[in-house]
Amino acid sequence: MDFHITLLPGDGVGPEIIDAATTVLTAVEKKFGHNFHMQSRDIGGVAIDTTGVPLPKETLDACKQSDAVLLGAVGGPKWDGLKAHLRPERGLLSLRSGLGLFANLRPIALHEELISSSPLRQDIAKRGVNIMIVRELTGGIYFGERGYRDGAFGQEAYDTEVYSINEVERIAKIAFEIAMGRNKKVTSVDKANVLETSRLWRATVERVAKGYPEVELENMLVDNCAMQLIKEPSRFDVILTNNMFGDILSDEASMLTGSIGLLPSSSLGAGNMGLYEPIHGSAPDIAGNDEANPIATVLASAMMLSTSLKLVNEAFAVECAVHKVLAKGLRTKDIAGGKKHVSCSRMAEEIALAVLNR
Ligand code: IPM
Ligand code: MG
Repeated sequence: MDFHITLLPGDGVGPEIIDAATTVLTAVEKKFGHNFHMQSRDIGGVAIDTTGVPLPKETLDACKQSDAVLLGAVGGPKWDGLKAHLRPERGLLSLRSGLGLFANLRPIALHEELISSSPLRQDIAKRGVNIMIVRELTGGIYFGERGYRDGAFGQEAYDTEVYSINEVERIAKIAFEIAMGRNKKVTSVDKANVLETSRLWRATVERVAKGYPEVELENMLVDNCAMQLIKEPSRFDVILTNNMFGDILSDEASMLTGSIGLLPSSSLGAGNMGLYEPIHGSAPDIAGNDEANPIATVLASAMMLSTSLKLVNEAFAVECAVHKVLAKGLRTKDIAGGKKHVSCSRMAEEIALAVLNR
């Protein structure tokens, strides 16, 4: 079959990990007889350098016309001094909202092969980590009113957290639907002891939960959740939370698996089209060294295959290939524990080979 995929390599290690993902996608094309029409567009710092804005209209239009979008990473010290609306990160935020992608799914799974790379105490790690973080992506403090004004102590800055019932309802429904296909437990994370938006969040989630009597709902305060993730991660199945808390908790949870370099994410809206990206950033310190871990982006491609392209067997083949190379002992620097490691491109070639030889 024919599919149109927009590639957004972005900044830092972005181009290297997108190259790695295309190596694997090319193997999938060959093995399963598909045609992936992949075209690259600029976003983030590289777009600022070439067009003056972090999300050129041409990039957004190309994304809207494709079946799926695969993104590397945005940002870097070069653009740190720019005004907020011109920063590389703004490009990603505008892309998410411009495509209406309000649901961000971040699966956090500790691979059997990597239990010893987890910083968790081994007895806790052995009990397993398998969590789906469902993060609201187009609302909250990321998109509320912001600015500068004169305050009692002179100039001050402010950002506002706003959530409508409708926004909470639609993301909660996604979390409950996902929980139905997993272990039927949703932990909704908020700060309802302090924040009004969190109290609306909690009341709305409780109402949505009534439509899913088989799913157990647990409410948890975000500070407690940060602690429980380290103390007893096996207690979690689906974590449902807002934009800001989801950003922070997903980085924390990612480390339980050994490296943030392993974790993919998908961002979805009302239709089939989605945005797929690793949850890590542009890692400017190692950019250009061919040493980034491509597995997060390769697994993001697998999510793209199954979710937007409905190619479930192909996605499974990619996931199995990743497990196979890890079981063979291949490690990129971030998960090698100081021992022998392979480059980003070599890791991708090995995964591609494992797809072809299935
Ligand atoms: C993420 C990132 C982004 C976010 C940044 C780059 C805007 O940290 O996807 O987690 O905060 O959402
Ligand atoms: Mg983040």
